[in-house]
Amino acid sequence: MDKFRIIGGRPLKGRVSISGAKNSALPCMAAAILTPEKVTLHNIPYVRDIITQRRLLEDIGATVLTPELRTHQISAAHIEIFEAPYDLVKTMRASVLALGPLLARFGKAKVSLPGGCAIGTRPIDLHLAGFEQLGAEVKLEKGDVVARAPREGRLRGAEINFVKATVTGTENLMMAATLARGRTTLNNAACEPEIVDLAELLNKMGARIRGAGTFSIQIEGVEALGGAEHTIIPDRIETGTFLIAAAITRGDLEIRDCRPEHSSALIAKLREVGVELEELNQSTLRVSGDPELSASDVTTQPHPGFPTDMQAQYMTLMTQAKGRSAIAETVFENRFMHVSELQRMGARINIDGHTATVDGPVQLTGAPVLASDLRASASLVLAGLVAEGETSVRRVYHIDRGYERIEAKLRAVGADIERIRESVTAPLHGQETDAAIA
Ligand code: UD1
Repeated sequence: MDKFRIIGGRPLKGRVSISGAKNSALPCMAAAILTPEKVTLHNIPYVRDIITQRRLLEDIGATVLTPELRTHQISAAHIEIFEAPYDLVKTMRASVLALGPLLARFGKAKVSLPGGCAIGTRPIDLHLAGFEQLGAEVKLEKGDVVARAPREGRLRGAEINFVKATVTGTENLMMAATLARGRTTLNNAACEPEIVDLAELLNKMGARIRGAGTFSIQIEGVEALGGAEHTIIPDRIETGTFLIAAAITRGDLEIRDCRPEHSSALIAKLREVGVELEELNQSTLRVSGDPELSASDVTTQPHPGFPTDMQAQYMTLMTQAKGRSAIAETVFENRFMHVSELQRMGARINIDGHTATVDGPVQLTGAPVLASDLRASASLVLAGLVAEGETSVRRVYHIDRGYERIEAKLRAVGADIERIRESVTAPLHGQETDAAIA
């Protein structure tokens, strides 16, 4: 297992380029199952979850070519297996995104039910209830979800009211409904930019989707979908993580190839706490200056609210801000795993139910810490960048799931960070995997 060794105290300076959004690339790759024709996706980030999703596609019979490192050409002309096995689902919950497309095109799908994860139980009941409303029969057999289309072989359009906004649930149902007979309406749909991106791809494939990005999405089912070419949007969580990295180290960083409008809630909050942040153009943000940061409360919400995927990183920033901030997590039940690690570095944080209270500023001190999930690991790296002395972040495979070469990007703008290889297993960012993915 690799770890990061970080020596804190270096301001980040220069330019960093943002990669494609993992959370958009994953459903877009699954969407390729909906057609026998070729789907070409550009700006796919080079991260572990993408390799897992690619394996899933290949395991079920699709071919995936990568003429360039960040371009995937997916052909699902000959799908032979209609299931996502447990060993894939347990490493990446987003494997459940295969359910909707398989069910819609082939009338059958089996996906292992994801278990609990570090940030809570994370059920998929809303996905399954939605499939049932589209006429599917859904059963649980030996830990697997087995879904079948109605006898006539095709799903039926329906009005689906989500009791809670779910990102992958909305994506799964939107994909399933593209090939259903008649019209589907998804009410209380999630509005994340990744859903809009997926809808754009699906429409290029011939789907008829309106309203993606709002709370109500309408889908007119079509007989078949065709091939398409699409460029994945930039990763707004990587963007946000670098904004905070620049602010916390009092650096001067240009963040390029991003979409500022996808990070509005975060940008507004950062400005409120004193971060000097300029929008240089439609795809470039700059953080500079050495302002005194002041504490401010935050509550995570579905988009367009403050994203839960930025909660841990914002908490690290608040350890450097003057005053007390209350950070409430409303999306996931157990997403404060980073708190005990930040406390080991000297942070003053108390948890009361779903709210963490942070008192700052404190001088963090380097320590060995353990990453518990993807975004928690990012918050520990940020803490390491500002801490006095040496921090080692273990279990960085969590961060490799969703951040492309984070240590290389940080080093290129002045951070003192290195990856230390601690095992003989194939590294993600080594030559071996470069070859494997190419
Ligand atoms: C997606 C993102 C993840 C992000 C999350 C919230 C991907 C691949 N992952 O995860 O990075 O943190 O959105 O923005 O896009 N829920 C149910 N039943 C369901 C589905 C969800 O109760 O059937 C609950 C969840 O437990 C959670 C809430 O709804 O409390 C929101 O979860 P959801 O939006 O589904 O998250 P994911 O799609 O898994």
